[in-house]
Amino acid sequence: MLGKIPVEALRGVNLKVDAGDFISILGPSGSGKSTMLNLIGALDKPTSGTLLIDGVDVSKLVDNQLSELRLKIGFVFQFFNLIPRLTAKANVELAMSIANVSRAERSKRAVELLETVGLKDRVNHKPAELSGGQQQRVAIARALVNNPKFLLLDEPTGNVDSKTAKEVLTLIHNLNRENGVSVIMVTHDQKLSCEAKRTVQMFDGEIQSDMVN
Ligand SMILES: Nc1ncnc2c1ncn2[C@@H]1O[C@H](COP(=O)(O)OP(=O)(O)O)[C@@H](O)[C@H]1O
Ligand SMILES: [Mg+2]
Repeated sequence: MLGKIPVEALRGVNLKVDAGDFISILGPSGSGKSTMLNLIGALDKPTSGTLLIDGVDVSKLVDNQLSELRLKIGFVFQFFNLIPRLTAKANVELAMSIANVSRAERSKRAVELLETVGLKDRVNHKPAELSGGQQQRVAIARALVNNPKFLLLDEPTGNVDSKTAKEVLTLIHNLNRENGVSVIMVTHDQKLSCEAKRTVQMFDGEIQSDMVN
């Protein structure tokens, strides 16, 4: 809702994503991509309609079941959503706080993942001391830290240079191919969307096409 005027961000969408798939959601700004991804990630609730994840109706889950489900989902937000007063490492560690992981293991895993995304020498920096691209990579490390089954990314290369974008994409491809992680990537970039196995094109809150690349 925007003030008192209801905004219909999505209308009549129907999407089925198979385990191990890699799909991109492509569309111009304002077409409903982020809304769609937030619904898929169970961060938002649809006003009508159903969302099934792993065959489970998300609307029927109680809070602790939802938390458990969210552990299976790695989410990279369009605007990172990092916690400003925490270092890169602490931001990544925080995502493991509800998983059953020891403090030592949390620390080790956070550093490993930050190294994987090329931030070895930035682990103790706070978000404000990092560039947009570096913050995006912290967000990616955070999303991967609980070995998610599903990886949802909102414009994951929107703030990185082309070299980093390539690296991020290679990382996503590997997770999909080698670890069987199901990937849903939102983008407004046609070239990037072709990297996925399947492209769902959105316009004005509706799915316009759904095609294998
Ligand atoms: N919090 C909000 N309140 C009101 N309208 C919103 C809100 N978030 C998104 N919208 C509207 O919903 C539509 C879809 O937005 P969004 O999903 O963010 O699109 P995209 O990610 O494709 O740019 C747009 O018309 C946008 O203005
Ligand atoms: Mg968006």
